[in-house]
Amino acid sequence: MALNLYVFHIFYKFKVLLLIMLCLMVLWATFSYFVDSGQSMPRPKNTVEDFRKATSLQEEGNSWKDEKTKLTAAVPATTSPQGHCPALSPYLRGASKLTFKPSLTLEEVQKENPQVARGRYHPTECSALQRVAILIPHRNRERHLLYLLEHLHPFLQRQQLDYGIYVIHQAGNTKFNRAKLLNVGYLEALKEENWDCFIFHDVDLVPENDFNIYMCDRQPKHLVVGRNSTGYRLRYQGYFGGVTALTREQFSKVNGFSNNYWGWGGEDDDLRIRVEMQKMRVVRPSADVARYTMIFHNRDHGNEENRERMKLLRQVSKMWKTDGLNSCSYKLLSVEHNPLYINITVDFSIQPKIS
Ligand SMILES: *[C@@H]1O[C@H](CO)[C@@H](O)[C@H](O)[C@H]1NC(C)=O
Ligand SMILES: *[C@@H]1O[C@H](CO)[C@@H](O)[C@H](O)[C@H]1NC(C)=O
Repeated sequence: MALNLYVFHIFYKFKVLLLIMLCLMVLWATFSYFVDSGQSMPRPKNTVEDFRKATSLQEEGNSWKDEKTKLTAAVPATTSPQGHCPALSPYLRGASKLTFKPSLTLEEVQKENPQVARGRYHPTECSALQRVAILIPHRNRERHLLYLLEHLHPFLQRQQLDYGIYVIHQAGNTKFNRAKLLNVGYLEALKEENWDCFIFHDVDLVPENDFNIYMCDRQPKHLVVGRNSTGYRLRYQGYFGGVTALTREQFSKVNGFSNNYWGWGGEDDDLRIRVEMQKMRVVRPSADVARYTMIFHNRDHGNEENRERMKLLRQVSKMWKTDGLNSCSYKLLSVEHNPLYINITVDFSIQPKIS
């Protein structure tokens, strides 16, 4: 009896010991799991370092949309095999107060942007999500262009974009044709790079907030919700001017801009109608980021209001198929690769030889 009791006692002690050990093991396992997962969590600073180490690969046959979807699918940046840039750049700063120094020179802007060469830049720390061509129609606005270049280059670099800035310069004395210049920019830019996205950009509008991302979307994007000259309100319902972003495919689907708008106004409404006719819809970033400063100027000589525009706007559905990218004929005078931009000069008063 006494022996039995003794054995039972030992057995009971053993069971308690086993239970305590089991508890300790569970505790230890849980603890070490948390420690491990904490270490594999990418920290912002390390992520940037990892991007620097990652070799950037050229992706083929993969549209940027697929890449973007992949990236936003919560894949930790450190494990991305291609070393793509993150969906949101870590360098963005938000709203900034813009200044325009009267004594600014092109040389100063060049010095500020040593990584820009022949009008182009791409991030070295990761491979950009989109290749973006900025197209700026131009005539007699050298000062505005200088201020835009000063602000746009660092802005685009902070957004980690692979980009090129094209200035399409209209020579000759015919009336200014913004839309046709942008068609020329699209056609000429595609001769040197298969750009994913095109930003059609007025020379006098400077973006104030770098969260206004210069990338294309699934729908044509209008980037100017407000500007200081309109109290930061949309100019009118349906306005689609100033700065817009369309993918290569979206722009070719609408046959580009009309070539028939000479002088100021109407061509942007024409493009909106083309977009809507293709069952696409204009999207806009939120009003607090889509803000611009408009650099003051008088209406230029040669860019007087286009009085034909209402008539032209009534004919878009009849005209769009035969008036646009597929009918854009022009005399190309020169293509110059400057350090900060590519200068494409055309003359619309000379008819090119039809071959
Ligand atoms: C917008 O800001 C620019 C630059 O500061 C200034 O030149 C221009 O006059 C402003 N426009 C209005 C209407 O306030
Ligand atoms: C572009 O090139 C043309 C032809 O060389 C020149 O006349 C014009 O001033 C240039 N424009 C800009 C903005 O560099």
